[in-house]
Amino acid sequence: MREKIVAGNWKMNKNRTEAKALVSELLKEFKHKPAPGVTVVVAPPMPFTGEVVDQTAGTSVQVGAQNCHQSESGAYTGEVAAEMLKSIGVQYVILGHSERRTYYGETDAFVAAKIDRALEHDLVPIYCCGELLEERKAGRHFEVIEAQLKAALYHLHPTEMAKVVIAYEPVWAIGTGETATPEQAQEVHAFIRQKIADQYGRELAEGCAILYGGSCKPSNAQSLFLQPDVDGGLIGGASLKAADFAAIAHSF
Ligand code: 13P
Repeated sequence: MREKIVAGNWKMNKNRTEAKALVSELLKEFKHKPAPGVTVVVAPPMPFTGEVVDQTAGTSVQVGAQNCHQSESGAYTGEVAAEMLKSIGVQYVILGHSERRTYYGETDAFVAAKIDRALEHDLVPIYCCGELLEERKAGRHFEVIEAQLKAALYHLHPTEMAKVVIAYEPVWAIGTGETATPEQAQEVHAFIRQKIADQYGRELAEGCAILYGGSCKPSNAQSLFLQPDVDGGLIGGASLKAADFAAIAHSF
């Protein structure tokens, strides 16, 4: 059976005190009511990553980063290398998020190199793809997503690809309150899985976790997670409240 994952992308939210409190509340939620068979990941803002790794040590909660640089090391002011993340105990890294593509000009080629660095340092990349509203309206979403998959992933060796988690995040659903319907999500997730199967074979594709992201919350998580090709969620806003995030992790 495929891995089920619920990952919280806190984006640029919470100060140090708030971050600590959120993790404490989350740990209480999962201690009180574990989510067996679900991998729970939190991706706090970069300055708190190490503390969150320490706070969650020995628990079922894993830690991710929201980004890493595409180079190994060097003169890149303000950036963070995959090796640094690994050295403090981070396990996942979100790459290719639409906010990074939009605001920081990250191209597919950048993201492909970031995925390479992450894999070299044994971090699990959570690769985000998804179409803009105008692309969806023009009926171009499959074409856009296929191009994103090709550009960022198809150069990987099958042993590398087997470690990648994919997140389908339709840009029009991120932070808008507008969620893809379960049918829309399933349609795209099945398409992504088919493309991975075409490239790497059915067995690898069947093992690939494909998460949905975009206004996922306790009230809609279950209907999304019931879809056969939806293996969990990448959660933004609702990951900032422990009870909501835990409720989503309990929605399988
Ligand atoms: P929201 O859940 O706030 O829509 O954000 C989704 C997202 O971008 C997760 O990476």
